[in-house]
Amino acid sequence: MSTREVMRKIFGIEDDEDNGFGYPDRQTRLDLSHNVILYLEDITVSFDGFRALNKLNLAIDAGELRCIIGPNGAGKTTMMDVITGKTRPDSGRAFFGQTIDLTRLTEPQIAHTGIGRKFQKPTIFEQHSAFENLELAMKTDKRVSKSLFATLRDEQRDRIAATLTQIGLGHEADRPAGLLSHGQKQWLEIGMLLMQEPQLLLLDEPVAGMTDDETVKTAELFLSLAGKHSLVVVEHDMSFIERLGGKVTVLHEGSVLMEGDLATVQNDQRVIEVYLGR
Ligand SMILES: Nc1ncnc2c1ncn2[C@@H]1O[C@H](COP(=O)(O)OP(=O)(O)OP(=O)(O)O)[C@@H](O)[C@H]1O
Ligand SMILES: [Mg+2]
Repeated sequence: MSTREVMRKIFGIEDDEDNGFGYPDRQTRLDLSHNVILYLEDITVSFDGFRALNKLNLAIDAGELRCIIGPNGAGKTTMMDVITGKTRPDSGRAFFGQTIDLTRLTEPQIAHTGIGRKFQKPTIFEQHSAFENLELAMKTDKRVSKSLFATLRDEQRDRIAATLTQIGLGHEADRPAGLLSHGQKQWLEIGMLLMQEPQLLLLDEPVAGMTDDETVKTAELFLSLAGKHSLVVVEHDMSFIERLGGKVTVLHEGSVLMEGDLATVQNDQRVIEVYLGR
């Protein structure tokens, strides 16, 4: 994959030039006055008449760590596609904070407003070191590239080093990303997203293919990110969801079947029927 393709896939950024977003500075504009960072209302998405999402409603609080579960085909990934602007809903409303209408923005604009998405397959620069991957991710941030003065370099290096430590790769800074383990690559991609300082992180099956040890470390990482960031995590791994410990939303046939803590959800007869009892 070329640098350009990676940039487009991870950050929704087309090239290194000014993107002409014409979009206001996200940090000052995200209105969290009602403590809700993401609000989906009656979102419907149809593919050839089939409703992948069917009047889906979801509200995520600022700083929340929400898990989304549901059987294959429930609409979990489609929901993320709607939030990130990859798929346009047929109807319904999607708001980031109180005022940013996501259905009116392009994918790059949505990435720029502070929504980062991690895909299942890590999208990293294999031939570059872990450190350089984070450096490249930072450079796609227009606010940073405008201020690349020598005096800031140390600060930026420190930030990259701190992020490497945060994602458990402090001792792998110089290692080519292609030589990292599957789990480490996943963490590196999360680190790349973090360099963009997203307020909302969407993570689709982040621990798929990880070892048990990597899964535990990923749960610790997510717990450390919650609060400062809001996270929406789609996963099938129930032990991982249990570790995260937050509210769980069950999707089924494109709608919310129920919400609650994992134990409540797992004991619900409807959930057992559609999902856990399969
Ligand atoms: N681009 C598309 N064209 C046609 N149908 C699609 C498209 N994308 C998704 N679907 C269908 O929409 C439904 C929901 O798919 P989605 O990928 O959102 O499910 P999911 O909950 O993420 O499932 P999984 O747990 O397997 O990842 C599925 O029936 C899928 O086949
Ligand atoms: Mg999916």
